[in-house]
Amino acid sequence: MVIPTTTREYRLPKYDGYHNLTLKEVSLLQPRANDVLVKIVAVSLQFRDLMVSKGTYPLGNKENVVPCSDMAGEIIAVGADVEGFKVGDRVCANFALDHVYGDVNEKIKWTGLGAPIDGVLTEYRNFPAYSLVHIPSHLSYVEASTLPCAALTAYNALNGPTPLKAGDAVLVQGTGGVSVFALQFAKASGATVIATSSSDAKLTIAKELGADHLINYRQTPEWEKEVLRITEGRGVDHVVEVGGQGTLMKSLDCVRYAGWVHMIGFLAGSTDTSDAPLVALGKAAMIRGILIGSRDQFESMNRLIIANKLKPIVDKVFSFEEAKEAYAYLDSQKHVGKVVIKVSKD
Ligand SMILES: NC(=O)c1ccc[n+]([C@@H]2O[C@H](COP(=O)([O-])OP(=O)(O)OC[C@H]3O[C@@H](n4cnc5c(N)ncnc54)[C@H](OP(=O)(O)O)[C@@H]3O)[C@@H](O)[C@H]2O)c1
Ligand SMILES: *[C@@H]1O[C@H](CO)[C@@H](O)[C@H](O)[C@H]1NC(C)=O
Repeated sequence: MVIPTTTREYRLPKYDGYHNLTLKEVSLLQPRANDVLVKIVAVSLQFRDLMVSKGTYPLGNKENVVPCSDMAGEIIAVGADVEGFKVGDRVCANFALDHVYGDVNEKIKWTGLGAPIDGVLTEYRNFPAYSLVHIPSHLSYVEASTLPCAALTAYNALNGPTPLKAGDAVLVQGTGGVSVFALQFAKASGATVIATSSSDAKLTIAKELGADHLINYRQTPEWEKEVLRITEGRGVDHVVEVGGQGTLMKSLDCVRYAGWVHMIGFLAGSTDTSDAPLVALGKAAMIRGILIGSRDQFESMNRLIIANKLKPIVDKVFSFEEAKEAYAYLDSQKHVGKVVIKVSKD
C-alpha cells in the first residue's frame, strides 16, 4: 500500500455544538521510530464526545481539537523500532494513550484522546505502539471500535479491587454504551443482572442480551426499592453508576452492605447527596471513581470477549461524511449500545 501523505480530519473550531464539526484535508506525518501509522476504519461515539462538542466536558478540551477517542483500524506503516506490530494488523488504541499499566495519575489523565489531545475522527493517525491492542479476530472493525472507552470502563468497574464473581448481583442503569457492556460482561461472568431503562422497548433488548430483571425507571421512580425486593433485601454487589449525583442516593440504598458503587457518569442531573458519606459509612459501602482503564486491562478484557465470543451491540452505523448526523443520533438518546462512524472501507 502506498503510504498517504494527507488525511481528511474533523476538528471543532468552536465549542457550541457538533454543528461546528469541520472536515479538512491536512498533511500527514510519517511514523516516528516508536509509532505506528493506522488507517482508521471505524470510530465509535461516546456521551463524552457530545459534551466535548458543546464545551461542557468537565476535564477540558484543547483548542480546535480532533474529536473522538475510540477507533479500530489497520496498520499501514510501522516505525523502525516498533516490535509486536506489523503492517496489516488490526488494532485499537487505548483511550488514554499513556495508561499502559497500573493506576491512572495526573499525567496519564491528560493523554485522553479527543479532548486534552487530538483524537481519532480522521482517516489516518500515528499512535505510539505501546498504546495499541490487537482486535479479537471474531470482531469486525465496526464492532471493535466500540471497545476502548465504553467497554473498558464497564470492565474496569466490574473488575476492581473486589472483582465480580459468579452469583453476584449487578445493577446496570440505562441501556447506553457503558451499561450494555456491563450487562454483557456480568452475564458472561455468571452474575445476575438487573437492568433499568427509560423505555420498555429498550428493556426488551436488555432482556435479549440476558438481563434477568428489568425495571422501567420512569414508571417506577422508586426503582431502588424494586432492586431490594428482587434481591430479597440483600441489595446488589455492584452498581454501574452512570446517573451520578441524581441517582447516587438510590444506588446507595440498594447496594448490599460492603458492596460497590462505581461512579462513572453524570447523566441524571442532581439531587441532594449530602447524606451520601453517612449512608456509605452505615453500610460499609464503597464508592469508587472510574477513569476508563489501562492497556493491560484492555488486553485482559479482550480475553473475556474472546472466551465468550461476545459481540458488541451496535445500534447504527453512519458514514464519515455523516459525522454530524451520527452525533445528532447519539444526542437523541434513542440508541441502545453504540453509535459508530464508518471512516473507510475495511
Ligand atoms: N468515568 C469514565 O471512565 C467514563 C467512561 C465512559 C462514560 N462515562 C460516562 O458515563 C455515562 C454514560 O456514557 P455512555 O457513553 O454509555 O452514554 P450513552 O451511550 O449516551 O448512554 C446514555 C443512556 O443512559 C441512560 N440514562 C440517561 N439518564 C439516565 C438516568 N437518569 N438514569 C439511568 N439511566 C439514564 C439512557 O438510557 P435509557 O433510555 O435506557 O434509560 C441513555 O440512553 C456518561 O455520563 C459518560 O460521560 C464515564
Ligand atoms: C459554528 O456554527 C455556527 C452555526 O452553524 C456558524 O455560524 C459559525 O460560523 C461556526 N463557527 C465556526 C468557527 O466554525
